Amino acid sequence: MSNSVSSPTPAGDIWTVKRILDWTIPHLKSHGSESPRLDAEILLAHARACPRIQLYTNYDQPLTDSQRATMRDLVKRRAAAEPVAYLVGHREFFGLDFRVTKDVLIPRPDTETLVVDAIESLKLQAAPRVLDVGTGSGCIAISLAVNCPNAEVTAVDFSAAALDIAKVNAETHNVADRIRWLHGDLFDPFTVAEEFDLIASNPPYIATAEIETLSVDVRLHEPRLALDGGPDGLEVIRHLIAGAPQHLAAQGNLLIEISGEQADAVTQLLAANGHYDDIAVLKDLARQPRVVRAARKG
Ligand SMILES: C[S@@+](CC[C@H](N)C(=O)[O-])C[C@H]1O[C@@H](n2cnc3c(N)ncnc32)[C@H](O)[C@@H]1O
Repeated sequence: MSNSVSSPTPAGDIWTVKRILDWTIPHLKSHGSESPRLDAEILLAHARACPRIQLYTNYDQPLTDSQRATMRDLVKRRAAAEPVAYLVGHREFFGLDFRVTKDVLIPRPDTETLVVDAIESLKLQAAPRVLDVGTGSGCIAISLAVNCPNAEVTAVDFSAAALDIAKVNAETHNVADRIRWLHGDLFDPFTVAEEFDLIASNPPYIATAEIETLSVDVRLHEPRLALDGGPDGLEVIRHLIAGAPQHLAAQGNLLIEISGEQADAVTQLLAANGHYDDIAVLKDLARQPRVVRAARKG
């Protein structure tokens, strides 16, 4: 590991935690990582099967051969832009740990804005019925089920593989018996009329052409179905806005995550639909428009 990750370690070298980090951080930086220290630490903690904090107290400890082999493989893959969350198989969201694979979008802190607002409105209701459209890893549905113990949650995704991961996450967080999983396109899985007090969605909202401008990590590794919002990025959002009134109770909220530039277009779509009022744009912690909320007219 002296010159490149794939080169053999010179005889007599002791690869301690500190030495591996000192080597890996600049290596990942030179391969485009924007958080090389964090990446290196998460990968090394994974290779050693220990909490990240333990690296600091074990700086001088040598790695076993098998830990070194694991780390070598992880660093090679990270240098080729594979996201850290896929390499270690999990990501924290809203204080909960979620299993992630290449079949699901990696949960983003931005999406916590939607979850916080949803919890605010759900906690005022006795037994709210919640629908998460495009659930992916299940991060929204599961965070709501965990934090709103009286909520009945339904989650839909077009990807059967994503639903399999979401179900595993629901088991992990002990809410599997409170979430119903439906496979299909947006509201299509509802064969009988059903109403919800809240519909939440983080839909695909990147314009197709813009996907090519995203970082290699996202562009090459995250599921296209989770990103691609059609020619103007609003295709799925249009269908959500059109279909949600048939599934929202009077005064029930629709919450849609958006990109910062979509706020005007999405509020106009909601206003033009005629079934919504109280349309509001919510900002994330970076003060960027991140969620549009609208209530079904009662
Ligand atoms: C941006 S990801 C969001 C995943 C997760 N909710 C999150 O916030 O991390 C969008 C999700 O919507 C799903 N999806 C895309 N188009 C869909 C459709 N027409 N019907 C249902 N789900 C869809 C994708 O498979 C993906 O899991």
